[in-house]
Amino acid sequence: MLLDRITHSFGSGETTVTALDDVHLEVQPGEFVAVMGPSGSGKSTLLACAAGLLAPTRGTVSIGGRQLSGLNDDELTEVRRTQIGFVFQSYNLVPSLTALDNVRLPSILGGDAPDSERLQQLADRLGITDRLQHRPSQLSGGQQQRVAIARALSMVPSIVLADEPTGALDTASAHSVLDLLEEESKRGQSIVTVTHDPLVAERADRVLFLRDGAVARATDKLTAREISNVLLELIEGSAA
Ligand SMILES: Nc1ncnc2c1ncn2[C@@H]1O[C@H](COP(=O)(O)OP(=O)(O)OP(=O)(O)O)[C@@H](O)[C@H]1O
Ligand SMILES: [Mg+2]
Repeated sequence: MLLDRITHSFGSGETTVTALDDVHLEVQPGEFVAVMGPSGSGKSTLLACAAGLLAPTRGTVSIGGRQLSGLNDDELTEVRRTQIGFVFQSYNLVPSLTALDNVRLPSILGGDAPDSERLQQLADRLGITDRLQHRPSQLSGGQQQRVAIARALSMVPSIVLADEPTGALDTASAHSVLDLLEEESKRGQSIVTVTHDPLVAERADRVLFLRDGAVARATDKLTAREISNVLLELIEGSAA
């Protein structure tokens, strides 16, 4: 996946907000990248552009060598359904469907038969097997989050984009989600995860730090302590 120097602005005229400012990010198959930065620094906007949910104002996004801006609506929908797994910050589960049907949704929408063995494995790994017949309103926040992760991984996408995928989880569940993501990346999937948590980001191969929509720092693998130090430096830098 390539984000080739993308800028994204919301609004126009005096109320324009430049949420992303000339961000360049290339993620190879099998790479696990964490994106960090203060609230409002552009992390969710970056993921939305990468997934083709928002079109960048400038620059281009390519998935598997194909520029998203060159695709028509049907082609874009198909790329999103089959190649991109997206975990929303707010889960975005369909309230009227059971957890199982939420997980099966990407296959159902495309008219494909869901791979029930894969779904069962994901549910087991994520500890939601006994909750699959419940609707989202009957699940805890952490369970809803794990259903959203199972849905994103269900089609074996080549790219997983996750916005705070462990935000609602306790440490043990967060680690099983990270173990799962790490295994998926070892099988060749690209993973980009937004997180505020240095213990999550230290599992990634690389860390991208955003500030005010721009890349403030891009590093190789760091420990949680090193990540915390970079975050502190960035906060101190912006206060200066
Ligand atoms: N739909 C929108 N219309 C106008 N401005 C927006 C919109 N969405 C986001 N923004 C602005 O763009 C900037 C980046 O927002 P974004 O949601 O990407 O931040 P974030 O890093 O994900 O923050 P958080 O950690 O709080 O989730 C913010 O200043 C935000 O107010
Ligand atoms: Mg966000």
